[in-house]
Amino acid sequence: MNQSGVPQEKILEELSEKLNKDLTYESGKILGSMCTIPHDLARKLMTIYLEKNLGDPGLFKGTQEIEIETIKMLGSLLNNPKSWGYIVSGGTEGNIVAMRIARNIGRTKIRGGTPEIIIPTSAHISFDKAADLLGIRLVRVNLDREYRVKPSEVKKAITDKTIAIVGIAGTTSLGTIDPIEELSEIALEKNLYLHIDAAFGGMVIPFLERLGYKLPKFDFRNQGVCSITIDPHKMGLAPIPAGGILFKDRTYILENCFEIPYLAGGTYAHPIILGTRSGAAVIATWATLKHLGIEGYTRIVKNCMEVTHQLEKGIQQIKNVELATKPVMNIVGITSKKLDICQIDQELRKLRWALGKFENLLRIVVMPHVKPQHIQQFLADLEQITKKSK
Ligand SMILES: Cc1ncc(COP(=O)(O)O)c(C=O)c1O
Repeated sequence: MNQSGVPQEKILEELSEKLNKDLTYESGKILGSMCTIPHDLARKLMTIYLEKNLGDPGLFKGTQEIEIETIKMLGSLLNNPKSWGYIVSGGTEGNIVAMRIARNIGRTKIRGGTPEIIIPTSAHISFDKAADLLGIRLVRVNLDREYRVKPSEVKKAITDKTIAIVGIAGTTSLGTIDPIEELSEIALEKNLYLHIDAAFGGMVIPFLERLGYKLPKFDFRNQGVCSITIDPHKMGLAPIPAGGILFKDRTYILENCFEIPYLAGGTYAHPIILGTRSGAAVIATWATLKHLGIEGYTRIVKNCMEVTHQLEKGIQQIKNVELATKPVMNIVGITSKKLDICQIDQELRKLRWALGKFENLLRIVVMPHVKPQHIQQFLADLEQITKKSK
């Protein structure tokens, strides 16, 4: 650290020089991120309420009330006004917290040995983190041709050590939705915990349904669903950090809390990972959800889907590249039978396009910052690159 401190103007100058290296959402070049520019209201509130700490909610009772109301709004979106949960640091924390509670509930039933959780091969890396931290074995189940987990394979994978099943509503690579209704039946029949990772899809699918898309019921309408991850800091236009973890009801939480006795605001018991955490992000999330409402989000999702269809059609017109599957939501996968996808990715990066690269596909997430003119330019660049590639 500098001995005598640096004047503010100098800091700002240095900062602007350094941050010039960052890509910006406004450039339209970021095509592979699940984050976007937060809503203006969220941005304003983040700066005003920066000091609010939900790690000590006794001091910030109003902020705590706002968190409860935020969870109620998300719960009603997921068709369960009784759900209970927390705004957490992101989908990773949400999934780890759910897996911990599933493990605690399940381990009393399996009587020794390593607990097993069945996940689709499409599951996010956060489940690997959860397994490593929690001493759980992951059992991976294959997907069908449309990249959804096969319920028959899930059933076959169940052993006397299985404690939970995970289904994904909006996979990281392609946005596909697992047959959650069938997973729910299996979970009920076998008395297993069912967690749904809707970190991305949770803020998309309910609005697609309102737009008339026919999609599987992914939420608490399924009796077997015990918890859902849903992240406002993805398609919710909330600021980072704003993930969400919701449980079917409060009983899942009550017996799985850590009690923190020393807090200035009085004892607080919670089941999440972080201690000190951002109250401002929760306030900003609450305000954004309230301000945009169902109609606002439906409009945003509709716009994203229009751009998604533009991209989908454009890819179909370029020789030697294909869609990995028909997009279910605003996520598009590009593959090629003839060309090297890694080489295409490298050429795109030279032009500053930033896509997501998975084993055999490139992923585009059509977030609200991705506009028709960006897609037009991208398609033109992709066509040029594929013409030159071998
Ligand atoms: C389906 C899914 N779950 C969980 C996560 C993790 O979310 P975060 O990066 O907010 O921790 C992601 C991130 O891309 C995701 O796609």
